[in-house]
Amino acid sequence: MANINSNYLKLKAGYLFPEIGRRVKAFAAANPSAKIIRCGIGDVTEPLPPACIEAMHKAVDEMAKRETFKGYCDEQGYDFLREAIARDDYKSFGCDIVADEVFVSDGSKCDTGNILDIFGHDNVTAMTDPVYPVYVDTNVMAGNTGAANDRGEYGGLVYLPSTAENNFTPALPTRRVDIVYLCSPNNPTGAVFTRDYLARWVAYAKANDTVILYDSAYYAYITEAAIPRSIYEVPGARDVAIEFRSYSKTAGFTGTRCAYTVVPKSVTGKAADGSRVDLHRLWNRRHTTKFNGVAYVVQRAAEATHSPEGKKQVRATVDFYMANAKIIRETLTKMGLKVYGGVNAPYIWLKTPGGMKSWEFFDKLINECNVVGTPGSGFGASGEGYFRISAFNSRANVEEAMERFRTKLKI
Ligand code: MLT
Repeated sequence: MANINSNYLKLKAGYLFPEIGRRVKAFAAANPSAKIIRCGIGDVTEPLPPACIEAMHKAVDEMAKRETFKGYCDEQGYDFLREAIARDDYKSFGCDIVADEVFVSDGSKCDTGNILDIFGHDNVTAMTDPVYPVYVDTNVMAGNTGAANDRGEYGGLVYLPSTAENNFTPALPTRRVDIVYLCSPNNPTGAVFTRDYLARWVAYAKANDTVILYDSAYYAYITEAAIPRSIYEVPGARDVAIEFRSYSKTAGFTGTRCAYTVVPKSVTGKAADGSRVDLHRLWNRRHTTKFNGVAYVVQRAAEATHSPEGKKQVRATVDFYMANAKIIRETLTKMGLKVYGGVNAPYIWLKTPGGMKSWEFFDKLINECNVVGTPGSGFGASGEGYFRISAFNSRANVEEAMERFRTKLKI
């Protein structure tokens, strides 16, 4: 009989979004006439930018001819895409990142989980709370934690509570940690980290020999000029940080799949004999062994977002979702709800009215308004009493959902 990875048995519930899906399905079955509006998972609704479609058609035609057909590519991605990323997303923001430090992949969800392959199991790992559940769950699966307590917190992890009281910007840990996950613009709170705050983290990482895993999947939603898009805008960050980015939320690739992870050659970890090992080498080894590259057609589509037309089209889609965010933020504020986020992020994070628990508010909202959101407690213990509304939706759905909040929600 095959033994299983018993760490999976420590996981508290199903992964958050399938769990919501299950509950919505049950509600729909019991209420077949309800017209449900989904503002839960942050999944895009608008079609791919025309520049991507054009590039994909062209790439498909290339695949049809022997002379231009492509088989395996370099696992790390085609040079045309890695160079466009290094140029547009880093060099043009003053970040010292070169093309061969960029690893193209099929998603940041996978990369933020897979990165654990190159780290030991005895690291002290910190993360903000609430947090993108993948960071926690993959640490549990890898055997890096103990069991969960009643609040759903796993033994061994260092949680940094992010609440309205600290402006969703938690104090740095008082003890040293080996690894910390940071996400800005933040999923789920919609908060952003300032340059000063990130500089404090970089200084902490240098002083404590800590690796920062920085998720900036939502960087395109930053509207305030002073907020860094990348951690590499902070001097010294390339010695301590790995950054994750994705085309999912910028160019609508949630169903197309393309992302990238930047592992600068100057970030190191410690081997058992105390020697320093560069993480770029390890990630390259992992990536080339367990991954075979993103489809050529998809990489050409991603490249098209770097063209002048592509950039304009991506901007227009991001602006569209941010206009949704503004509608949601303003409507809920007018209703007297306490609302955060939605200014530099496509997520609105609200304090549940009357001290309700997050899942109680989920039930109330689906029952009274037939609207689905995400319970804050699903992102961690400090998310209890909060609720996330996603701005990824059609305008008609956002307007209809807000009309239902105004007229049907009893608060
Ligand atoms: C979310 O709703 O938090 C996101 O869609 C999750 C993801 O990007 O995987």
